[in-house]
Amino acid sequence: MAVKVLMVCLGNICRSPLAEGILKEKVSPVEVQVDSAGTAGYHIGNPPDPRSVEVAKQHGIDISMQRCRKFTPIDLIEFDLIYVMDRQNYADVAVLAESDEQLNKIRLLLDNAEVPDPYYGGPQGFQQVFSMIDEACTRIAQSLRNG
Ligand code: 4NP
Repeated sequence: MAVKVLMVCLGNICRSPLAEGILKEKVSPVEVQVDSAGTAGYHIGNPPDPRSVEVAKQHGIDISMQRCRKFTPIDLIEFDLIYVMDRQNYADVAVLAESDEQLNKIRLLLDNAEVPDPYYGGPQGFQQVFSMIDEACTRIAQSLRNG
């Protein structure tokens, strides 16, 4: 059975859509299913932020078809691994966990650092965030391949 990976940020329009698009490029869709969600519901149904769409496009990845959805407690049952971008995301997801098994599914995307929220900054921030997420996803794809 495929491993199910969920990428989570606050708005699900900047960071986690990039993480979804980037990880999908690095894995086989038969072996790894990737989705993303936000802890907040501000942008439900919307496409990713145009700045994320643009930076992904510059790297040959099309994320324009993604649509924002809100994280739900069912995701803690449905997904095997839940990668969050920052510690606030971690707290917002962890509070919904109903067992240690669910809690153990939640990880920071970067081992000991946060992916900064680029929403209020310029395009430079989106480039930086792309690189950080890309490196993390290379590592995650490798560890998924190694089982
Ligand atoms: P994201 O960025 O969590 O990376 O999607 C944000 C997007 C929107 C908002 C905050 C962060 N917002 O406040 O609308």
